[in-house]
Amino acid sequence: MPLGVFDSGVGGLTVFRELIRAFPDTDIIYIGDTARVPYGGRSQEIIVQYALELARYLTENYHTDLLIAACNTISSYALPAIEGELGIPALGVIEPGAQSAVKLTKNNRIGVIGTSATVTSGAYKQAVARISKETEVFQAACPLLVPLVEEGLLDGEIPRLVLKMYIEPIAEKGIDTLILGCTHYPLLAPLIRELYPNMAVTDSAENIISHVEAKKESGLRVIATTDTGGAAESLKTKLVGGIPITKVFLS
Ligand code: DGL
Repeated sequence: MPLGVFDSGVGGLTVFRELIRAFPDTDIIYIGDTARVPYGGRSQEIIVQYALELARYLTENYHTDLLIAACNTISSYALPAIEGELGIPALGVIEPGAQSAVKLTKNNRIGVIGTSATVTSGAYKQAVARISKETEVFQAACPLLVPLVEEGLLDGEIPRLVLKMYIEPIAEKGIDTLILGCTHYPLLAPLIRELYPNMAVTDSAENIISHVEAKKESGLRVIATTDTGGAAESLKTKLVGGIPITKVFLS
């Protein structure tokens, strides 16, 4: 049975890309809620409701037996509700990211950048505290980064200034490791690494793979979104090339 991957938009394709590389024979279905992205400024209640609709779509249409929330915002709030309603395991990106950061830090000071919802949830702080009591976590909500990525503005003066505005205050706390706590942000990683060359940078996409058990199937790939066109299409092409987008309606 296929693996179901879901996100508020196309940012989660950074996770999908790693999954299809790592598991060439596994059937992997992606849905992104491009009609309603971004989720990062929404309430917990709405994030859970939207996430449940995406998870239901995957299980009802593809009979997925494992769900991966390729979205930190969804992972921060909705996994218990999804597992409770659908009765199948739902993996998130928070724990893997926290584990990787704790391994990377040498001074036990970790920074997290994410959406306002992810930062408010405190999910990364809690996940790091479960692994290491000595490690301090400094967070920054970065609401302008998702629109920059969705618009494909990944280099140049504007993203540079915006990134510095968000990261500088936590860099000043002496962090040596930065968690990209939003699946859109790996697209900004080259610029972040250039701005902060001495910081270890870790993201959701690279850390989830070891948490997934692969199955041998036909290697089916499906990308569904709730709206089409615009920047999402070009971002999809940049990340995963020619896999076509199917437009779907959530009920
Ligand atoms: N990709 C989502 C995440 O990882 C953020 C995008 C949004 O705000 O919907 O948090």
